[in-house]
Amino acid sequence: MNSDAENQIRIVHFSDLHLPLNRLVPPWRLLGKRVLGWANLTFNRGKTHQLRVLTQLLGGIVDEKADLVLLTGDITSLALQFEYDELSGILNESGLEPETTLVIPGNHDRYTLGADLTNSFERGMSDWLPAGFSRGDNGYPLKRELGPVVVAGLSTSIWRNPARAAGYIDDPQIHRLIEIFKDDSLAGRWPVIAMHHPPFKRSAALLHDYRTGLDGTDNLLEALGDTKATVCHGHMHLASRRQIGNLDVIGVPSASNNTANPQTQAAYNVLTFSNRGLVRAQTVRLHPNREPEHCFERIEMPKEINAD
Ligand SMILES: [Fe+2]
Ligand SMILES: [Fe+2]
Repeated sequence: MNSDAENQIRIVHFSDLHLPLNRLVPPWRLLGKRVLGWANLTFNRGKTHQLRVLTQLLGGIVDEKADLVLLTGDITSLALQFEYDELSGILNESGLEPETTLVIPGNHDRYTLGADLTNSFERGMSDWLPAGFSRGDNGYPLKRELGPVVVAGLSTSIWRNPARAAGYIDDPQIHRLIEIFKDDSLAGRWPVIAMHHPPFKRSAALLHDYRTGLDGTDNLLEALGDTKATVCHGHMHLASRRQIGNLDVIGVPSASNNTANPQTQAAYNVLTFSNRGLVRAQTVRLHPNREPEHCFERIEMPKEINAD
């Protein structure tokens, strides 16, 4: 075996759990923005996002025995504590292990101002974050050195008004990200960035970008300059891949979505890296209604997947 193959690692990426609430939410918890999210869950998203789909997908993810699993946010739907308790339990029962899992927040995990101010994600997912981790002013990016790669997990999520699911990345976090990649002790490792919001304009429609995009994208891309890196993101609930400068930007659908559309059906990505970069990218789609031995469809990922 050549040394490149010996130094390869595999990362599995999944995102956006979005399970419907399986218990009655007290009305007082639905004041403000949460009532909109509850209505969306009840009358729209809750019909296709299913626990059985998520648990099936988790079974496949665990069977991959990857070196690292990335979960890029929207763990909850409304950032309620019982959602964190239940989702954390589901992840635990699946066989995933916190030591080999890197979890970052999505916009739904900072759904209300209170959830943001009280760090409900960091409290609710504390079992899945590094021991003693504190969001604080400089908690993110989370950093993981792993063989030929260094992984930086960003937090792009803050509370926004009810009309917005947009993210935000500030200059201090961008600076800390660049410092990680400039660290001499990490020289020779391939940079992998995990983030919830994708680092590009969602579409030409300004209103759409205002509602769902990432404020600070231009600053992030400018700071990264000609850095070669792989970016793994969620948020769009779509299989997508595009090249932005030297960035290979890969999105994964929601992990619980039961649909026949191949771009949005529940899936995870399997990414194989050497220190020269991504050497293989596969998507594993779940067909939840097939026999268990045929329910996963593994395909090689094209270089570009247009998601607009
Ligand atoms: Fe989402
Ligand atoms: Fe999101």
